[in-house]
Amino acid sequence: MIHHLRAAGTSLVLDASGSGTPVIVHWGADLGELSPADLAALAAVSVPPVGPSSLDVPLRLSLLPALAEGWSGRPALGGFRTGTGTLDPALVLVAVHEDGDNTLVIELADAETSVTVSTELELTAQGVLRLRHTLTNTGEGTLELAGLDAILPVPDRAAELLDFTGLWSHERRPQRSTLGQGVWSRESRHGRPGHDDSYLTVAGTPGFGFRRGEVWAVHLAYSGDKLVWAERSTLGYAALGAGELLAPGELSLAEGASYTSPWTVAVYSDAGLDGLSARLHPWIRSWSTITGPRPVLLNTWEAVYFDHDLPTLSRLVDAAAKVGVERFVLDDGWFSGRTDDQRALGDWFVDAAKWPEGLHPLIERVHAAGLDFGLWVEPEMVNPDSDLARAHPDWLLGSASAPTWRGQRVLDLANPDAFAWLLERLSALLTEYPIAYLKWDHNRDLLGGSVHRQTAALYRLIDAVRAAQPGLEIESCASGGGRIDLGILERVDRVWTSDTNDPLERQQIQRYTSVLVPPEYLGGHLGAATAHTTGRTSALGFRLATALFGSAGIEWDLTQASAVELDQIAAWIAIYKEHRALLHSGNVVHADGSDPAIELHGVVAADGSAAVFAQVALAAPRTALPAPIRFPGLDPARRYRVRPLLVGPVPRTVQTVPPAWQAADAGELVLTGAVLAEVGLSAPLLTPEQAALFTLDAV
Ligand code: DGJ
Repeated sequence: MIHHLRAAGTSLVLDASGSGTPVIVHWGADLGELSPADLAALAAVSVPPVGPSSLDVPLRLSLLPALAEGWSGRPALGGFRTGTGTLDPALVLVAVHEDGDNTLVIELADAETSVTVSTELELTAQGVLRLRHTLTNTGEGTLELAGLDAILPVPDRAAELLDFTGLWSHERRPQRSTLGQGVWSRESRHGRPGHDDSYLTVAGTPGFGFRRGEVWAVHLAYSGDKLVWAERSTLGYAALGAGELLAPGELSLAEGASYTSPWTVAVYSDAGLDGLSARLHPWIRSWSTITGPRPVLLNTWEAVYFDHDLPTLSRLVDAAAKVGVERFVLDDGWFSGRTDDQRALGDWFVDAAKWPEGLHPLIERVHAAGLDFGLWVEPEMVNPDSDLARAHPDWLLGSASAPTWRGQRVLDLANPDAFAWLLERLSALLTEYPIAYLKWDHNRDLLGGSVHRQTAALYRLIDAVRAAQPGLEIESCASGGGRIDLGILERVDRVWTSDTNDPLERQQIQRYTSVLVPPEYLGGHLGAATAHTTGRTSALGFRLATALFGSAGIEWDLTQASAVELDQIAAWIAIYKEHRALLHSGNVVHADGSDPAIELHGVVAADGSAAVFAQVALAAPRTALPAPIRFPGLDPARRYRVRPLLVGPVPRTVQTVPPAWQAADAGELVLTGAVLAEVGLSAPLLTPEQAALFTLDAV
């Protein structure tokens, strides 16, 4: 039978009419209503000729391409069984079940190599394709699994690739290349996705942008080691692939045992990267754990680092409350013996020297000021200089002689005693103190031990903590944005996007992180004027405008801010509170400009009734008069009232005379969505590192 899944402008056609592994004959634009005869014709015309010096039957790229089928590109499945050799099954189709709306379960088996594979494939209502395989060892003896990956075909015209790399404090740097013949493979061996995570691998028509081009993208919803690749084979097919990166011997399947791969999430759009977000964000929102408005928080890290004492932090609580902060997060430094970043991780008891009466007096102060309380933890880690490491050296992962990283080692969560101890410690803290929020950090690569087991145990731990503490929110942090993926996102309510609060860096990091993850998850903080990570000094208005477009917070010693700055921060928080419902539910949009110095991004309400936009000058423009600012994503037929939205001081410009529409006597500015998107407004002459914000309301 030939199956046609359709949703939100996407079609997937699976030819399961043969006796072997089914073939995806189309994943891309919606093909409209197709009758069984239409589908049969489609499948028939996709069968290629047989070429010279080749396989004697037409080669088709199946759902689990294998050598046994004639596929000499990267296979979907690998492993071996001692004594019988390499696992390269010639799978036979057993059944395809239609499991509810747009979901297929494909059962395959190979008697010779004694495996079965069950593939779940779902096209969600939002047009997001999810795919995972479960392999079962049905034979005698142990099967060593080397990989079980998802491979999806992309058409020949998807000739340009985009994925991401990065460093600490500089995550999500885009990199583009041409998808030439061969494999472009991105592999994470950090034990977490890492700062250089490939994040989202996008193949598209050359020159694709935020609003233009056809794009096909994959992401692996997993927080451990992984590989994501693009391949153009000389055999004539191009594909995107993703799967867990398994170390040799890491996954031994005893007779009857199964392995289920992480979900591969795949999205198609004919409207560039914004089109991907337009499918991904509503889908993520459909299962998100976020239940309420994203509170403005103050995080103590860059304000006080390890210098915790009640009088200092009480002053900070008061200053935070005064400007409208809603959550106070006590970062690293609160637990027993933690005087710097080289000791005490693992000793999750409140430090008696800094906090003789425990955290109660501080939390009472926080609550009295009307805020809720959050606490930093780094549960997976342990310093050799800690009571925990001294008592349980056998709980540490990896070799004892391996170098430490930030003075720390990793706790082996797959050790049941270590796991139980950690769960008890976290539960004890969460029971003793009214903690609304945990910032869950992870500050080193694993570099040893089984990442597979560690990641599974981490998920179990977070799930157990959440189950025991309904309502608790968690932020995923890994030295900033080192663990942002859709596996962790199922379990957390916020991600720490990056350790840098430098708005210039943040503009790029947030721009690309938000292609996949909706902005309400992306922690963005107002930092001190001179950024601690880069030493760059930025204007308050630019810092405020940058931190507005996410889950906003402050990471600055507000007791050092001037009265004028505090007023401006309070006004910014009021604006955030007024607009967060829109910012955290609307469509994220970007204009495609030709000048990389000037960017325009915004969020348009899902019903098109309102929007908030930012014109951002990252550097000096290429031309004296930058191109008009165009506002994408609006309803072309509606009229919008455009108004400046002032956060902080008026953005600095070099214009002797402002654009006519900005003149004091210009009156109300009302234009249609079509005019705003296609023609736009002549651009104000912002100086570098300034941002001008606008609200648009349908009239
Ligand atoms: C790394 C995080 O990314 C920072 O925000 C901070 O929490 C420190 N760890 C604390 O050690």
